[in-house]
Amino acid sequence: MRKKLAVIGAGAVGTSVAHWALVKAVAEEVVLVDIVEGLAQGKALDLAQSAPIYGFSGKIIGTQEWEALKDAQVVILTAGRPRKPGMSRDDLLKVNLEIVRSCVEEVKKYSPEACLIVITNPIDAMVYTAFRVSGFPKQRVIGMAGVLDSARYRYFLAEALGVSPKDVQALVMGIHGDHMLPLVRLANVAGVPVTELLPPEKIDEIVKRTQQGGAEIVSYLKTGSAFTTPGLAAVEMAEAILRDTKRVLTCSVWLEGEFGIEGVFLGVPVVLGQNGVEKILEFELTTEEREALNLSVEAVRAQIIKTGL
Ligand code: APR
Repeated sequence: MRKKLAVIGAGAVGTSVAHWALVKAVAEEVVLVDIVEGLAQGKALDLAQSAPIYGFSGKIIGTQEWEALKDAQVVILTAGRPRKPGMSRDDLLKVNLEIVRSCVEEVKKYSPEACLIVITNPIDAMVYTAFRVSGFPKQRVIGMAGVLDSARYRYFLAEALGVSPKDVQALVMGIHGDHMLPLVRLANVAGVPVTELLPPEKIDEIVKRTQQGGAEIVSYLKTGSAFTTPGLAAVEMAEAILRDTKRVLTCSVWLEGEFGIEGVFLGVPVVLGQNGVEKILEFELTTEEREALNLSVEAVRAQIIKTGL
């Protein structure tokens, strides 16, 4: 079947998603949809013109028409406001809730069989909103956060160790927010625990910097938030689904008792394939890790209450 990826929102993150999707050739067709007249068309045309130089052959179309979502196997939702300095992801909740709700109604109408990946912040509450509004099975509604947060964590560890970031394996679970849980115990460099290679104070500093990874970028940019790596992280997830590669990626998924958690979307390691979330990789947490993860659960529950859904 012809692989089609739809991206809702042609802002900074949506354009980054489309860009990575084309250069990584994860789909034969990428559609970019935005409500602002001409925006998606302009961004798509600009991206299309890079094809002769880069050498990709995928098609990109920009439009305001929701019918363009038809036959997309994966829809990535980026529509919504980004953070400004001093704003928490929670502050965005009310504004983005209505945007997500209206976009998901269109996804439900035009691509009811698609896997829906949500990037709009606050991600764990917005993916919950998408789940409720779409009525899609839990396997097909997925939040992007863990891939991004884990990449930040891996990068900071690699930088401190002076090694290739590719060789650093590390996992950030929980909420996409201040209470996220970068796991220290499992972080390693080509199998060697980072606890053997870095002093505890340095690891602690990296954990804190990871938790504030998005805010650090917002404080520099002032008018928006990160977009390059968030876009690539979502494409990594889309690729696993479109190509059925069974990649193990940390995603915000609906939990029904896994890790002792129920009734929230939260970042945990999962297997992604053509059916979306095919398996949650559950493992034993230490008491300390469990307590830290509970802070995420409380924070995301408070957000869910605010959605009123
Ligand atoms: N339907 C389609 N597009 C919409 C809608 C809607 N109902 N409402 C807003 N948009 C579009 C805007 O027109 C804009 O082009 O969403 C786009 C958002 O782009 P930016 O403002 O550049 O924001 P961006 O940096 O891409 O962030 C988008 O991703 O990482 C999160 O926190 C971030 O919630 C934010 C989202």
